[in-house]
Amino acid sequence: MEKKNLDWSNIGFNYRTTDKRYVANYKDGEWGEGELTSDANIVLNECAGILQYCQECFEGLKAYTTADGSVVTFRPDLNAERMMDSAAWLEMPPFPKERFLEAVDQVVRANAAWVPPYGSGATLYLRPYMFASGPVIGVKPSLEYQFRLFGTPVGPYFKGGAKPLTLCVSDFDRAAPHGTGHVKAGLNYAMSLHASVLAHAAGYDENLFPDSATRSYVEETGGANFLFVTKDHEVVTPQSDSILPSITRRSLLYVAEHYLGLKVSQRPVKLSELADFAECGLCGTAAVISPVGKIVDHGKEICFPSGMEKMGEITQKLYDTLTGIQMGTTEAPEGWIRKIM
Ligand code: PLP
Ligand code: COI
Repeated sequence: MEKKNLDWSNIGFNYRTTDKRYVANYKDGEWGEGELTSDANIVLNECAGILQYCQECFEGLKAYTTADGSVVTFRPDLNAERMMDSAAWLEMPPFPKERFLEAVDQVVRANAAWVPPYGSGATLYLRPYMFASGPVIGVKPSLEYQFRLFGTPVGPYFKGGAKPLTLCVSDFDRAAPHGTGHVKAGLNYAMSLHASVLAHAAGYDENLFPDSATRSYVEETGGANFLFVTKDHEVVTPQSDSILPSITRRSLLYVAEHYLGLKVSQRPVKLSELADFAECGLCGTAAVISPVGKIVDHGKEICFPSGMEKMGEITQKLYDTLTGIQMGTTEAPEGWIRKIM
């Protein structure tokens, strides 16, 4: 199979239409048989629940070419489970886990020419999503849904790759207590756009969203969880009911403890203790681990000792071990890697 002729190392994090995507419809109380289609467009009724009341959730995972030329995904079972949780929370019928995994495999196989080669730094980003396709005018759940899954080749999420980011503490709320912050609903991202445009215009790479109730604890950014390293090399991640349970973050805590022998803890992290940490990073499927060099809290600059030139020492070790597991150069824990081709 011949690969597409792309400059794989410089593709950025952008959408490109690939050859095939998967689609399945939910009607009359059950999911129909799914299939691959070449059509990247969707025709919807004007009153579809997604268009009126934003009933939608999605996932993000990647397919990797490993050192031995295989193509694999990383813990896709956790994406399937999280999507079932998101769907249940949004009163949508969960898409069954085995069918989700099968759809991932089918889309990757059908777009093999788009899976970036080993060593290019790029991956095939996979976007499963489901939305209310049936008409609703009164505010209530739709009776019809569509699940889709497409792939698009991507490079690093943040321009500059491993260059440390500068964040600002946002004045806006991303997720309410007891709201939707812990599920991957598109509406959470719509909520973050205004804050994100303002932060970019002011020269920041991203927002740090504090907790909405007290504005004194660290929650997450618009698209990644936080990870901190203390001066004595303990890895700390914020605990909150209104942040997304990142699969990357859960995996990194395991790697820190079991591969690197570090102490780890998950606990509420106060904004006032940021200055005590030695390193900071953003973690997620798209972000992998992107180092943070500086956080600006309303004029007060918090500069991490790891600086603005490179990743901190522990962040780098976490990055190397995680990407080694994903690319097949470091042995993976049982069940983390699903081989597709
Ligand atoms: N937090 C938010 C808001 C996200 O959108 C993402 C991306 O999926 C993450 C965290 C990281 O989650 P994961 O590591 O499962 O990709
Ligand atoms: C991901 O990391 O997969 C995300 O969903 C983050 C962002 C692209 C929305």
